[in-house]
Amino acid sequence: MKNINQIEPLITSIDKNAINSYLKNNGWITENKLSKKFEKIFSKIIGCKYSVLHPNGTLTIASILLSLNLKKGDEVIVPNYTMVATANAVILSGGTPIFCDISPDNLCLDPKDLIKKVNKKTKAVIYVTLNGRSGHITEIQKICKNKKINLIEDSAHSLGSFYKNKHHGNFGLASSFSFSMPKIITTGQGGMVCTSDKKLFKKIKKIKNFGRLSDGNDIYESIGYNFKFTDIQSALGISQIRTLKKRSKIKRKIFNYYYKELKHIDKIKFFPFSKTETPWFIDIYLNNPKKLKAFLNKHKISSRMVYPPLNKQKFFLKNGEKLKVSEHYCTRGLWLPSSLTLKVKDLKYITSVIKSYFNSK
Ligand SMILES: Cc1ncc(COP(=O)(O)O)c(C=O)c1O
Repeated sequence: MKNINQIEPLITSIDKNAINSYLKNNGWITENKLSKKFEKIFSKIIGCKYSVLHPNGTLTIASILLSLNLKKGDEVIVPNYTMVATANAVILSGGTPIFCDISPDNLCLDPKDLIKKVNKKTKAVIYVTLNGRSGHITEIQKICKNKKINLIEDSAHSLGSFYKNKHHGNFGLASSFSFSMPKIITTGQGGMVCTSDKKLFKKIKKIKNFGRLSDGNDIYESIGYNFKFTDIQSALGISQIRTLKKRSKIKRKIFNYYYKELKHIDKIKFFPFSKTETPWFIDIYLNNPKKLKAFLNKHKISSRMVYPPLNKQKFFLKNGEKLKVSEHYCTRGLWLPSSLTLKVKDLKYITSVIKSYFNSK
């Protein structure tokens, strides 16, 4: 039996044909018409007015923050349980990340702790819809509105997830999506900023394109960089996003399978999803996840420890306050195989190995 990866991309023959046909038609590779088309399709799916492609989902967050002109000492609140990129993008754009605890109900930013962290220096809150969960999104939205703080959504895990009828990424000033390999659709690397604010959209267009609004001229209106995408990646992105609904359905089925088979094991904690949310990775929480990981490895099943708590990272330690809930879950979480390519026989095998691990205890 071959090894089961924790995650692998689903690239279909239709995707491959889309890339081939782009190359056959002598596309110039660089960001052009196809990227505009991808942005348009994306805006329609998310329900926002504007989408702007970027090379990845780190620079998307940095672009949004750069548009806020952060000054030294300006603070941006981020959850303690997220990928390090969320906090690093704050530093890249000149701000200071302030770590906030998460809610024990859904693993997303905790509104009660957020209120404690807000002060005069707070310029923005980055809300991470971790693993596609909405969490307390509308409560966070209200707090940001009352305190006049910019709400930015890091929706890297959230393509295909809705809160009620609204797609994630529509609750604040702007949001960020990622298309890296493990995501529900991938372009290898890639990211999208979404917003319905025209002024912000124009600023971000300039930030990503050397300070100009359009290519082919040398009129620079502000400082800007090269955060451009490529049309060859857009060929793949357009092909993949057309199957988003199908992909979300498969992710839900995979989660439901694991949940049905393993929910009776009282040593495992699941955080179930609502019907409108798309699980990105299958995350379970237990004591000593490293031991289960090693056991799965022996059976040719790869898994991955969830993100470590950011306040415990060496380079962030000066923020070293104890954040109980995130420190608890970030050291107990394990991501099980979650690829769209998984077959029922794989899921049967994985869950039987996990059951045998707990039966032998
Ligand atoms: C929550 C979160 N934010 C940001 C990123 C960064 O995205 P990228 O890898 O596209 O730079 C990731 C990547 O996985 C992520 O999980």
